[in-house]
Amino acid sequence: MSIIKSTTYSVYIGDKSFDALNNFLKKKTYSSYFLICDEHTFQYCLPNLLFNCPILNEAEIIELESGEQHKHLETCIQVWGALTDSGADKKSLIINLGGGVITDLGGFVASTFKRGIDFINIPTTLLSMVDASVGGKTGVDFEGIKNHIGTTYEPKGVYVNPVFLETLSERHIRNGYAEIIKIALIADPAFWNDIKQSSTTPHFYSEELIIHAIELKNAIVKKDLYENDLRKSLNFGHSVGHALESSLLKLNKDILHGEAIAFGMIIESIIAYEFKRITKKELNEICNYINSIYPKIKLNNEVKKWMFEYIFHDKKNDNGSLNFALPDSIGYYKLQAGIKDEQIKAAIARY
Ligand code: GLY
Repeated sequence: MSIIKSTTYSVYIGDKSFDALNNFLKKKTYSSYFLICDEHTFQYCLPNLLFNCPILNEAEIIELESGEQHKHLETCIQVWGALTDSGADKKSLIINLGGGVITDLGGFVASTFKRGIDFINIPTTLLSMVDASVGGKTGVDFEGIKNHIGTTYEPKGVYVNPVFLETLSERHIRNGYAEIIKIALIADPAFWNDIKQSSTTPHFYSEELIIHAIELKNAIVKKDLYENDLRKSLNFGHSVGHALESSLLKLNKDILHGEAIAFGMIIESIIAYEFKRITKKELNEICNYINSIYPKIKLNNEVKKWMFEYIFHDKKNDNGSLNFALPDSIGYYKLQAGIKDEQIKAAIARY
């Protein structure tokens, strides 16, 4: 088992992470446990967890409907209500068993219930393992804007067991892999060289790959938990990607976060090239690799219209000027201020 120390908690990775979880539960004296899951993790992951951590048989199960379209305040009200009706108190522990929607929403509920109770994350998707469950960002979408309402509130532990990935489709593995590509492009040139040589599906979720991606993210979060500077690098691909994701969700079109981020990384790399942050060769390398893994996104005028609306509502906008986190040659990052509307439109036209 690998243990990565974060600011106030540790991330345990490997099949022995269940042992670490048992040790944690034995040491703490929680008054009650509340386990938040969705219909998929209820069916495919919960039995394995309960078998390996029998103490959690005491937990009250709160099952939510899966999907980004349920990551909103009404679902939080449902969970706050269930906690209240079941007598949860300051000493209760929330256990989030699921992907990014569950870990983001469950963390947000924990951070606000009675002004904050403890929670832990047991991520079951690659996306949540390498990104969402680590770093203390919690939140929900609001008025179509991704993660618009949220808190920075750290878990008491993150328990990553790659066994859960065996329950995922290849599409969902690719979904999480986009965050691995992102972290390589902004934080580790050697990692980029390593991953771009392999695009076979098993490689997408080797334990070493997960460990390294978490190490890279964790190193950034430890330096800048509240996203004053360095942590903004983790938004590479997200300014445009979130806008695409919100637009397609609004139009009831099927899109996964990682697919939108893959598109966002291509558009933002074109912009990085325009600002001479990466070379033409690097741009081609990035685009060819991403295009070899993700399907091309079809953009009609309606999608584009919504995308621009969302880009300008994006939380990273400061004083009317757009700031993007861009690679500064592959494996490094720099914030680029003053990106113009026309530059984004031109980049999308080149896609
Ligand atoms: N997912 C980006 C961050 O944690 O900052």
